[in-house]
Amino acid sequence: MVRKVALLVAAVLLTATPASAAMHLRGVVGGDVAGAGQFPWMVRLSMGCGGALTAPRVVLTAGHCVTGTGKDETIKAVAGVTRLGDPHARTAHSVEVIRATGFRDETHGDDWALVKLDHALGLPTLGLPPATGPAGPLTIIGWGQTSEHSTRQEKSLRYGTVRAVPDRTCAAAYRKIDIALVPAEQLCASGKGVDTCQGDSGGPLVGRSGGAWVQVGIVSWGLGCARRDFPGVYTQVATFRADISAATRKLS
Ligand code: ARG
Repeated sequence: MVRKVALLVAAVLLTATPASAAMHLRGVVGGDVAGAGQFPWMVRLSMGCGGALTAPRVVLTAGHCVTGTGKDETIKAVAGVTRLGDPHARTAHSVEVIRATGFRDETHGDDWALVKLDHALGLPTLGLPPATGPAGPLTIIGWGQTSEHSTRQEKSLRYGTVRAVPDRTCAAAYRKIDIALVPAEQLCASGKGVDTCQGDSGGPLVGRSGGAWVQVGIVSWGLGCARRDFPGVYTQVATFRADISAATRKLS
């Protein structure tokens, strides 16, 4: 039994860890190609993750996309274009990273990090959500795999529409494979055949609030991609709003 659980957990993490996705650089499942300027704060990070500009020089991404807190000059950020490799891309390099202090791995919550860039990219920023995040449809965005079995990342940015799944439904699904959801720190979302996938981690889950996009979640993990019974799991940004704002100020 212990062995079975260990195998299942390993399988989940295998499909959920960007470190491996990044290695073989293998979007969004079931989405559409994004238009120029549609998501202007969207960032691609060189380890194979997404992110969003939360301040002119600071990218909000997932904790599991970075190696920890400290000086870090190894991450390259690409933004301002939807096609990776577009010569008009704006690029910057990391100088410092702050990762959530409680971070262990994506399934245990605290899955957020901030990357400070060496210069401002001159692009719009994405706001954090109000305490009671927007109701209604949510949008996922990324250059990650378009299917669980794909082995490549997309050249063109893709997006799709999902809806929040109640915590108890999501927790019941993942309990079946012996993973305990952390409802206060995670939120689940899914769509019919629409989901984030490997390479989308760190990217934003956004909703509309008063006519503007706000960042409700950060792509974190899931069992496979777009499986009917297993929603995507996102970092619940509202929970960490104060911590993320304080850390952003520290880096700005
Ligand atoms: N951890 C993944 C990444 O590295 C994201 C997985 C999201 N999975 C899902 N089924 N929504 O890119």
